[in-house]
Amino acid sequence: MPNRGDLPAGFRWGVSTAAYQIEGAVAEDGRGPSVWDVFCERPGAVKGGESGRIACDHYHRYGEDVELMRGLGVDGYRFSIAWPRIQPTGSGPANPAGLAFYDRLVDALLAAGITPLPTLFHWDLPQALEDGGGWLARDTAYRFAEYAELALDRLGDRVPAWITLNEPFVHMVFGYALGIHAPGRALMLDALPAAHHQLLGHGLAAGLLRERGHQVLIANNFTPVRPASEAPADVAAAEAYDALHNRLFTDPLLRGRYPDLSAYGVTPDLGGSVRPGDLELIAAAGLDGLGVNYYNPTRIAAPTEPGGLPFAEAEIDGVPRTAFGWPVVPDGLRELLLGLRTRYGNALPPITITENGCSTDATLDDGFRIDYLATHLDALAQAHAQGIDVRGYYTWSLIDNVEWAEGTSQRFGLVHVDFDTQRRTPKASYAWYRDLIATHRARQRGWAAGPRRP
Ligand code: BGC
Ligand code: BGC
Repeated sequence: MPNRGDLPAGFRWGVSTAAYQIEGAVAEDGRGPSVWDVFCERPGAVKGGESGRIACDHYHRYGEDVELMRGLGVDGYRFSIAWPRIQPTGSGPANPAGLAFYDRLVDALLAAGITPLPTLFHWDLPQALEDGGGWLARDTAYRFAEYAELALDRLGDRVPAWITLNEPFVHMVFGYALGIHAPGRALMLDALPAAHHQLLGHGLAAGLLRERGHQVLIANNFTPVRPASEAPADVAAAEAYDALHNRLFTDPLLRGRYPDLSAYGVTPDLGGSVRPGDLELIAAAGLDGLGVNYYNPTRIAAPTEPGGLPFAEAEIDGVPRTAFGWPVVPDGLRELLLGLRTRYGNALPPITITENGCSTDATLDDGFRIDYLATHLDALAQAHAQGIDVRGYYTWSLIDNVEWAEGTSQRFGLVHVDFDTQRRTPKASYAWYRDLIATHRARQRGWAAGPRRP
């Protein structure tokens, strides 16, 4: 069976982070408040009353973090740009001090031989835009494209590829439908316009980035959906869930239309938000790659009570769980990628794994994480052997950070962070990942050099 040693030549190794989770310095150099700054102030919103006010202080310690990446030997770094640093109120001219931070970061990365892969939006919307409706407002899509252009103007000479949005699915569901994340709105299905407007923003930004010769990806959260049984009601519920989680964003991008959401009583215009020409614009922008964030599969059963959502989540038994309680099912990654190819065929762009990883309570001796990463990379190699065009893997995450509503209680880093002293200490998984990357490179060089002489 193929394993991680068989990932292709040219495969890109990386690590991922996001601005609000690591930067801190929320009021420095003209940064405006984001929805997360405001949300964290709500009593009970974030575990332990924590926030990203200081986080990993990466804004000041980015040099040390780049050195950690250089030590890993990664090809690429996926980070996100904080929109409220660039436009403190979400519109108007760029804040030069905000752009200057990413300028320094990009230069430091390039000097370390690491390709920057910025995500333009990883959930930290300028609060001023939220006050105008946030992603429920169509206008936010146009503001997003303007912001993207400001980032492109400043960094485009050194940044080859961009990710527009991170996990628009999770942002819509956790942020607008359930209210577990910022902006903390619990609108249930009335949150769907936040899906369409994110996609419209993606389409507008992707259009202009690609027109200017840049590569564009979008990163979403995907999960293979398994019905709890073969009973038709469970199968139908699983299909309904799959449409929402896996197809809501990907169908418009790759097929030019929304999936059938009639099981939810939702009309194809998503609550009236879809206007003529929108779907054409979103699909026409095109994608150079699909970013896949994978953590776990989902098991779905028929709903137990009528009148609510058309599915119920069921437990996945008999597998290990992360500190978060998420089931560990490495083969779900292979299943997911093969499923995407079956669904979208030749319309499926090359895949980059833009996030994959786990939280564990182990401080430095994180053998659990090493097993998690190793088995998922084996599954990825198997998907590749079965014909999936996969170009890279960016593990989540470089350093322990602010895990949104969980505060710092869930640690996903290859590097431990002591949040009192900001001291960084590489975990066992850091050394393991470094060696894996080095071995992969050495094999590539071996192949390139041809058979060895005695
Ligand atoms: C999902 C993860 C997702 C997370 C968002 C979980 O329920 O399983 O894949 O990233 O929610 O915080
Ligand atoms: C998000 C990350 C998050 C990770 C673990 C994804 O949902 O993009 O920001 O930290 O998964 O929950």
